[in-house]
Amino acid sequence: MIIARTIEALQEAKKTLQGSIGFVPTMGALHHGHLSLIRQAREENDHLIVSIFVNPTQFLEGEDLDSYPRREEADTRICELAGVDILFMPSIDQMYEADELCIGAPAVRGYILEGEKRPGHFDGMLQVVMKLLNLSGAANAYFGKKDAQQLALITQMVKNYFMDVNIIPCEIVRDDNGLALSSRNVYLEGDEKNRALCLSRSLKRASKMVMAGELDVEAIKKEMLEVLKEADTVEYVAIVDREFNALEKIEIGNTIILVAAWVGKPRLIDNLWI
Ligand code: PAJ
Repeated sequence: MIIARTIEALQEAKKTLQGSIGFVPTMGALHHGHLSLIRQAREENDHLIVSIFVNPTQFLEGEDLDSYPRREEADTRICELAGVDILFMPSIDQMYEADELCIGAPAVRGYILEGEKRPGHFDGMLQVVMKLLNLSGAANAYFGKKDAQQLALITQMVKNYFMDVNIIPCEIVRDDNGLALSSRNVYLEGDEKNRALCLSRSLKRASKMVMAGELDVEAIKKEMLEVLKEADTVEYVAIVDREFNALEKIEIGNTIILVAAWVGKPRLIDNLWI
């Protein structure tokens, strides 16, 4: 595995690759969610590039940029074992200049839910993903459904900017108790680990209601909020179609149910595709 820390080193390393490139961008502190993307990319492409970059432009003032978990040594070993060809770990200086041209999240879809709670987050996320996709030269790039709105916006960016890369959505990976894996789960302490399960439990409750024939969005949200009482603060429960338009009735095969809540220190998100 080649470790590239500069743009130049990445371009040099890419010259050693012949054939299709799969790409998995991450912010590190790798867990089995990341690993499932890496495994799928490994299987579906001749070569595999993974990036680890804690992107400052997608963190808001007061968020956890400085304390975001960094595990370079362990992450490097994981990537090596997973058959990664190039691990790209650039510094901030390599990725950004002063006074850059920026792209912005779309006015509606980019500023609801996560975009409303974290204004500016998606601008920074799209900015870095555009850079990383261009640098990777990948045919296929892999993103988790865990960050459903992020995935939708990246897919839109690639379409709107005629970028030559396939965005491949990957299933959410959970632990044995149902908690969606996240690098931020390390912030959970004591009973918060149990209380954090209320996010996935609220989604399971919604799923059961739909299976029993309940399609009314308000009725489902109400039940979910009951289950979510174990969280400290619920930021939103939303039921939207795959384009992120609000729904009144569940549309089977075209619905995403999303939840964001604080449990102790971390802000957690989870969702269910119906
Ligand atoms: P990060 O949170 O490290 O996630 C990297 C990728 O792993 C994303 O596509 C995310 O959706 C996926 N992922 C995280 N947890 C997952 C889980 N439990 N199951 C399946 N996939 C999961 O998302 C980012 O980094 C950044 O915003 C990034 C795209 C790298 C841009 O900076």
